[in-house]
Amino acid sequence: MAKKMSSSITILLVIFALQCAITLASDPDPVQDFCIPNPKFGALRTPLHNILPCKNASEATTDDFIFSGMKVAGNFTDMGIAVISVNPTVFPGINTLGMSFIRSDLKVGGINPPHFHPRATEISHVVEGSVYSGFVDSANRVFARVIEQGEVMVFPRGLVHFQMNVGKNPATIFGSFNSQNPGNQKIPSAIFGSRINSELLEKAFGLSPKQIRTMRRKFDPKRVS
Ligand SMILES: *[C@@H]1O[C@H](CO)[C@@H](O)[C@H](O)[C@H]1NC(C)=O
Ligand SMILES: *[C@@H]1O[C@H](CO)[C@@H](O)[C@H](O)[C@H]1NC(C)=O
Repeated sequence: MAKKMSSSITILLVIFALQCAITLASDPDPVQDFCIPNPKFGALRTPLHNILPCKNASEATTDDFIFSGMKVAGNFTDMGIAVISVNPTVFPGINTLGMSFIRSDLKVGGINPPHFHPRATEISHVVEGSVYSGFVDSANRVFARVIEQGEVMVFPRGLVHFQMNVGKNPATIFGSFNSQNPGNQKIPSAIFGSRINSELLEKAFGLSPKQIRTMRRKFDPKRVS
């Protein structure tokens, strides 16, 4: 009897541990209607948005829940992409709500280089233009095609994805994440713009020291572009 009990308890503990793992895999559930960070406690500069004290709900206003900063495209990089990331740092109203979003604009031929979000699945809605879009799964299968205006593609959490404007006009994309802090690791800069040991990179990619130096210069985060 006692043995049976303890094995049931073990099973329950295992189930509980699995549940915890699943729960911790996404943003925590809010414990109040909303939490506009209290500006008295300083600007939102930390990724630990969830633990910032909220301002008294009675002081919240309609404007706290409206973001007007993405009516026009942001600043273009030399890859022909302009991204405006909307997270609680710029839009306090979404703090603790488990979501965030972006506007990205692509010039003709512009690209969003391969990257992934460690903490969020992304829904990508082509508002204007024709955008070749896709992702790679963990078996290196590529799922990609041209997405036309009005179509939506989903990029599963943690998988490498990419976009390129293949149309004749600029493209505008609205992306939405199921985390307020999805994170963004760009593959080229995570590999070549970081301080990973050069010899290791030479062996990993079959490149010469000179080729590695070229890639390093290209993706050096301190490089002025
Ligand atoms: C929030 O504001 C209301 C109305 O001004 C007040 O009654 C309440 O005590 C405040 N709550 C806190 C925690 O300060
Ligand atoms: C674009 O660049 C200008 C000038 O550097 C800056 O003031 C502005 O905040 C930038 N816009 C975005 C969306 O980052």
